[in-house]
Amino acid sequence: MIVTIVGTGYVGLVTGACLASRGHDVRCVDVSEDRIGLIRSGKAPFYEPGLEDILQRCQASGNLSVTTDLATAMRGSQISLIAVGTPGDGEHQDLSYLKTAAGQIGMNLKNASNYHVVTVKSTVVPGTTRNIVNALVEEKSGVKAGEFGLCMNPEFLREGSAVEDFMNPDRVVIGELDAKSGAVMEALYDSFDCEKLHVSLEEAELTKYASNALLATLISFANELAALCEATPGADVETVMDGLHLDHRLSPMADGKRIRPAILTYLRAGIGFGGSCLPKDVNALRTYARRNQVPAPLLDAVMATNARRPEQVAAMAEAALGGLAGKTVALLGLAFKAGTDDLRSSPAIAVLQSLIKRGAKVRTYDAFITRAAAAAAGLESFFAESMEAALEQADAALLTTVDSAFRQADWKRLLSRMRTPVLIDGRNVLRNVRLPEGARYYPIGQGGPLHEMERQWAV
Ligand SMILES: NC(=O)c1ccc[n+]([C@@H]2O[C@H](COP(=O)([O-])OP(=O)(O)OC[C@H]3O[C@@H](n4cnc5c(N)ncnc54)[C@H](O)[C@@H]3O)[C@@H](O)[C@H]2O)c1
Repeated sequence: MIVTIVGTGYVGLVTGACLASRGHDVRCVDVSEDRIGLIRSGKAPFYEPGLEDILQRCQASGNLSVTTDLATAMRGSQISLIAVGTPGDGEHQDLSYLKTAAGQIGMNLKNASNYHVVTVKSTVVPGTTRNIVNALVEEKSGVKAGEFGLCMNPEFLREGSAVEDFMNPDRVVIGELDAKSGAVMEALYDSFDCEKLHVSLEEAELTKYASNALLATLISFANELAALCEATPGADVETVMDGLHLDHRLSPMADGKRIRPAILTYLRAGIGFGGSCLPKDVNALRTYARRNQVPAPLLDAVMATNARRPEQVAAMAEAALGGLAGKTVALLGLAFKAGTDDLRSSPAIAVLQSLIKRGAKVRTYDAFITRAAAAAAGLESFFAESMEAALEQADAALLTTVDSAFRQADWKRLLSRMRTPVLIDGRNVLRNVRLPEGARYYPIGQGGPLHEMERQWAV
């Protein structure tokens, strides 16, 4: 099948590369010349395991081409997937990229001789595909929907395992204007062995929000319990969560063995959720609810709990050091999770800002973040090249991601470089690691004297 992908970000490029590897003739388009130049040379513009290998293979085989010219990419194309960003600041979802892309596709459909299905892959609130994208395509093409197809196909991949997720989907959700549109989408995913759900455009749009809202809710639930445990001497959130997870409805037994579903990783305490999707999507859903006069107090609370968590973790550092004025904190982990270089809405950055507000000097280290990436996010002044450099003469280290390198690190050597060997574990990643004598280790979610002191530093 001839496929056009509009936008070569995490979703667009991974989708394009993976579909090309399944034998489709894929043309990826982006407005950024730099990005297209980089991809053409076989490089991915962001870190994603396995992606460059597929890009190089599929470009060499001729199954994947990249261009800034949509007209070239649309020639003879049977389906286009719009995968441009839909950023949001809480109140407002910016649909400008989506509208531009829809209008451009419409213009290119004016003289198309074959049936073509326009598909929205970006995350958008219910009604966007039918009312905004469709209207723009009709207006610019002069053709009525039905003569061209319309689908909404939400994407569930996770950054850091995007290729693996796309290649092995749990399901493909096909929101369709009509059966003819959906049949083309079904053919696109023919080689993917999973359930394919044919639903309305609005149901497809909502399914993506339902999925992310549930994940965000689980994280905030775990973090609210962590805060409760911190206020309860003798309580430990890890033990409470272990007990919760053993409910057979969460981790069933099969053939005498306990199955531990991946969803349980969202029921663990931490520093809050972030990234380009969860906060943006929960906020978009809240705004959609408000516009439709539907109360959504649960979603409001999920965001409120999430906003509090970085402050609570920064207050721990303040309590552990007896004040942060003039103290240096090494923040280990800066991206929104380990295994990605995405800094968008990272909760580690919220922790950093809270530490600075409290008077600390901060150095950051993240194995996945280059100096250039830190500079692009306005964080270069905090950047350290290595864990050693970040920890040099630091008063405390604060861990924010579940990076396995933290477990394997030589803490005896690392702690000896610090002014005081204080370790605040924002993700409880070192819980089972044997730390050298003298280390002052403070995991999250444990009631006790630190959290008694912490109250005076709460803001
Ligand atoms: N990142 C994720 O993990 C993820 C997962 C599932 C869904 N989503 C959703 O998918 C969408 C895309 O997310 P992303 O993270 O891949 O975005 P991104 O910001 O990484 O990439 C978007 C790309 O689109 C390009 N672009 C913008 N307008 C264009 C146009 N008119 N023509 C061609 N290219 C254009 C940009 O230059 C950019 O390269 C969003 O709606 C997001 O919510 C993201």
